[in-house]
Amino acid sequence: MAVQRIGILTSGGDAPGMNAAIRAATLVALAQGVEVVGIERGYRGLVDDVMAPLSPSDVAGILREGGTILGSARCKEFHHREVRDRARAVLAGRGIDGLLVIGGNGSLTGALKLADRDELGGQPLAIAGVPASIDNDLALTGLAIGVDTAMNTIVEACDKIADTATAHDRTFIVEVMGRDCGYLAMTSAIAVGADLALFPEAGKPEAAIVEQIVDTVLTVRSRARRTRRVIVIKAEGVAIAIERLKAAVDARLRERAPGADPAGIETRVTVLGHVVRGGRPSAFDRLLGSRLANVAVRALLAGSSHRMAAWMPPAELPADIATRSPVDPYCWLVDLAAVLAETDNLIAGKSPLARWRAGAFAEIEDALLL
Ligand code: F6P
Repeated sequence: MAVQRIGILTSGGDAPGMNAAIRAATLVALAQGVEVVGIERGYRGLVDDVMAPLSPSDVAGILREGGTILGSARCKEFHHREVRDRARAVLAGRGIDGLLVIGGNGSLTGALKLADRDELGGQPLAIAGVPASIDNDLALTGLAIGVDTAMNTIVEACDKIADTATAHDRTFIVEVMGRDCGYLAMTSAIAVGADLALFPEAGKPEAAIVEQIVDTVLTVRSRARRTRRVIVIKAEGVAIAIERLKAAVDARLRERAPGADPAGIETRVTVLGHVVRGGRPSAFDRLLGSRLANVAVRALLAGSSHRMAAWMPPAELPADIATRSPVDPYCWLVDLAAVLAETDNLIAGKSPLARWRAGAFAEIEDALLL
């Protein structure tokens, strides 16, 4: 049965472009005569019944803004069946029979559990997911909302760091977000023109990482070039505290280059942290959020459920797992359970994509240093 009223929530870490998705979902559903309810603060607002109808004026102009107008939260209690039962009762009471979840791995896992057919016990509830996570750690989509803006933020910050690094012939280790996934570190290293990228998929032990940074610094400093600056991009997911890494690298540099001025050779560190997650969404993220939301809402309206709208999945997928969206040739509707299973593999570094990313980087590492 086609849905009568759609609820929208954003959950987990916010991502620039979520507002574009909220806006597009609202406008597309309203244009089809379906009511839309905005649920505040993710699953927390759902459980606490904090929600209000969304009208075109509520979403006017929001696609320019970072963050999410609905707010977001991480709701650990959602792992408990009784909390999900409460959420389902709230949805039934509000007459919401379609739910659009915009978020990352944890958020989409919550959606799948909420719409577990055994737990639903006949309650009508269709769900659809829109991938949003600056980390790009969701599988079976080429990109998630927020990644492009985050990369642009990193590039802008590193360009600034490169100015001062060049002026002083210094080495900077820049830590970027990416808890379980090195995508942002890898791609921004290329876009920045960094000398080295450190990411968890490489699976390198700490001593090897220290040695690799020192090798990089000494190689660059041995050159007779105008600049001998070094930029190393480290993913947050490389589990070495950055200050400890700096201390270990500096100590090793003193050992391996005893003649160098210690003050001149020692590294500097910058942790970009949550700066990477904020800011106005790029044009691409506005478009991506709008297109994925359009695809997801139209799928809900067409009677589909348990699917995530995906942007050009990076693999051929069987027809029972993924179908091309009938409304957008760049988008696919992918089985949500398959997305989450493959995301586990991606995060564990076991998926073909994770292996390809690490392998591709290993192949270009020498080129980065030239
Ligand atoms: O949204 C993903 C992410 O930004 C990770 O890169 C980071 O580790 C985490 O969220 C930070 O979460 P919080 O904002 O809850 O500290």
